[in-house]
Amino acid sequence: MELKDDFPLTRNQIWFNTAATGACPSSTLAVMEEYLADIMSRLRGEGGSVMPSEKWAERRLNGKRLFAKIIGASEGEVAFVPNASVGVNTAFGMVPLEKGDNVVTTDLCFPMGAVVVNKQRERGAEPRFIRNEGGTVDASDFEKTVDDRTKIVYVDQATWFNGFLHDLKAISEVAHDHGAYLIVDGTQSAGVLGWDAKGWGVDFLAASTYKWMMGGPYQLRAGFLYIDENHIDGLSAPYAGDQTLRPDQSKYNQEDGFDLYDYEPREGIERLEVFPHSMNSYVAVENSLRVLLDHGMDRIEAHVKGIGTKLIDGLLEEGYELQTPVEEDKRIYVNFKVPGFKEVEKKLADSGVSVSPRVGGLRLSPHFYNNKGEVDVFLEKLKKAT
Ligand SMILES: Cc1ncc(COP(=O)(O)O)c(C=O)c1O
Repeated sequence: MELKDDFPLTRNQIWFNTAATGACPSSTLAVMEEYLADIMSRLRGEGGSVMPSEKWAERRLNGKRLFAKIIGASEGEVAFVPNASVGVNTAFGMVPLEKGDNVVTTDLCFPMGAVVVNKQRERGAEPRFIRNEGGTVDASDFEKTVDDRTKIVYVDQATWFNGFLHDLKAISEVAHDHGAYLIVDGTQSAGVLGWDAKGWGVDFLAASTYKWMMGGPYQLRAGFLYIDENHIDGLSAPYAGDQTLRPDQSKYNQEDGFDLYDYEPREGIERLEVFPHSMNSYVAVENSLRVLLDHGMDRIEAHVKGIGTKLIDGLLEEGYELQTPVEEDKRIYVNFKVPGFKEVEKKLADSGVSVSPRVGGLRLSPHFYNNKGEVDVFLEKLKKAT
């Protein structure tokens, strides 16, 4: 049995579309079904408390531990957040900004991130967008743009439409030399890249679960937010809820009485977790993260980059123009230009190949469940579709 056979979505089609939605292993689909069946049976009064059982609560928490592992951080530095957007907004909201400060990013950032950067104008900060060249931005461009009034440097890792990988270590050094924080949207690489958040000097990292972490469908996504331990208690989140109270105060106010005129915020990462907990998504991603870790993140990165290289070689041989760098250390997936790319995408879909039209080209984003044999089939089908 090939690995892809354990991912039902990829059995009868070539799924080069993980940057849109990850395929799930059968075991993760089973966990989601089991969780839902359990909670529904409790709601029907068929036995047991309607509150989540210890088993699910423990699995959800374990998801945090596993996420910390795949990004190279520790469990106490990871918060549950509803999605990447909330994670990114939380991180921005924690950094104090004054009139005259600036926020540095690039014109490669995902629309959500660009919007959050622009919103900082309302807090008096100037957004600075470094222009890309050929779908890449060099770390030296950050040196030219960051100054002592820069408070945040923000990038996506990887770039949403072409898989370009920033040199995060070099960028964090520039940011830190000027007293700025590095915030990263890692949605397009957490789960496929051998991440090292600590080693690379990343201060905040937000990610949604439904792509490379294979955490279930888009509609049921959840997210994680990593915050370097040195910032968790020193920087304040722009929101609060009863979960952000010290646990003994919260318990008193529910069971023994009600007296909330003396707010005592709790310490630690949980003070950021004010949203309903999306248990179904977290138990799903917990299972998928175990599958990823069993495989090994370095092995997965090498495998996916190898498929990318085979795609690039084949596309260049056919004379296509790439929107992605050729070098393996600079990309995790691939985008190429093809005339009538939207039509071609539809024809490919009809022939059983799933890719995405992005920024004037086609984005091909294989994961570890894909194999090089699929590249040959894809190139043949591309010929027929053009
Ligand atoms: C870079 C990046 N960030 C975030 C998201 C999705 O974020 P959210 O789940 O918060 O909508 C995407 C989805 O395509 C993405 O490409």
